[in-house]
Amino acid sequence: MSPHTNFDKPMGLSNASQVKIDLGPRSYSIHIGTDYLERAPEMIVEALGRRRCLIVTDSTVQHFYGRRFHDIMTGAGLTRDDPLVMPVGEQTKNFSYLSFLLDNLFMRNIDRNTILVALGGGVIGDLTGFVAAVALRGIDYVQIPTTLLSQVDSAVGGKTAINSPRGKNLIGAFHQPRLVIIDVDTLKTLPVREARAGYAEIIKYGLIGNASFYRWLEVNGPSITAGRKARVEVQVQAIRTSCAAKAWYVMEDERDANRRALLNFGHTFAHAFESITNYDGSLLHGEAVAMGLVKAFQLSERLGHCPHEDVERVEAHLKGMGLPTSLSGRGWPVHPLIAVMFNDKKVMDGELTFVLTRGIGEAFVETRVSTDDVRAVLEMP
Ligand code: NAD
Ligand code: GLY
Repeated sequence: MSPHTNFDKPMGLSNASQVKIDLGPRSYSIHIGTDYLERAPEMIVEALGRRRCLIVTDSTVQHFYGRRFHDIMTGAGLTRDDPLVMPVGEQTKNFSYLSFLLDNLFMRNIDRNTILVALGGGVIGDLTGFVAAVALRGIDYVQIPTTLLSQVDSAVGGKTAINSPRGKNLIGAFHQPRLVIIDVDTLKTLPVREARAGYAEIIKYGLIGNASFYRWLEVNGPSITAGRKARVEVQVQAIRTSCAAKAWYVMEDERDANRRALLNFGHTFAHAFESITNYDGSLLHGEAVAMGLVKAFQLSERLGHCPHEDVERVEAHLKGMGLPTSLSGRGWPVHPLIAVMFNDKKVMDGELTFVLTRGIGEAFVETRVSTDDVRAVLEMP
């Protein structure tokens, strides 16, 4: 499916949907709906056969869903093992927990037929995916994302990673999941701040390639992040569109050699902002992305690509959704921010590369952006 689905015509909304990601032998389905934790065993058996599963989760998700999900999986005869419960937070994506998980898997005598099931947000998904990529030179895994961010972004596309002390996601592998199961009911317990952070990644798809989806979000955004008061069919529509857009970029460029880079719109700035906070929890990834999106628009305007009205419009919507948009008051020195940008995976031959835009829905990649222009934009409020 193209990321350019037209949202200007009225749409039929539904409580369930499916997106296929076609990558030849690595193809898989993304199921989106309600009460899907209950239905997960039948989806797993249908996609992968009846095999031994091992659940990896974090302590918060274990509290809300892990015990029930474990009962569902044992009831279906898909697991006999206790879930592997990791601490919450970005710090868990490190060598110690990679090693801890691998040790546990070998202690439990896994084999190449074992399936890992990542139940949680992007931290659990990225870590479990990387463990699956390296255990026994590669075993299968299923993503059951439970944050909005992981449902619309990290669970799809096969980027798996842990962090290095020198930077985020620097150690990883491309390893596609075999199945993604999204139960939107899990969003009911997600803190509103986390829901808003996930929403920043949804807006990104509109901003890079689908202006009509962006217009739809300007109207429907608040119903997506409203927790227990959210409209499920609107959430399903937003998640389906985001997954379909992500699937399209991944199918075009699975290993991130060219077009997939557009998914990093706003992220060169965002990674620098996250890095300067040392991932201490004061700035969530999606919050950094919201600020990064504004900076990417400001840089595009400064370089003469993008009209000022679009910069203002995007800033106003992000603000209206309760997301941070401005650097003022943060006290972040510019020089270290730029230094971090030079560690970005898009740097080629020592030159900064940015995803820029000609306006809402028209992103493109620009190589050789001058440090002076980046500095000027970072000095703006
Ligand atoms: P996260 O996994 O830390 O989850 C955020 C918080 O929400 C955690 O405290 C978690 O315990 C809690 N939580 C999860 N589900 C919940 C639920 N249903 N109800 C209540 N609480 C719940 O963070 P995240 O935002 O999901 O993911 C961020 C990570 O994703 C980062 O490490 C980032 O690098 C990575 N990421 C990866 C990709 C990719 O393509 N692989 C893309 C974007 C982001
Ligand atoms: N989140 C960016 C990517 O998957 O390419």
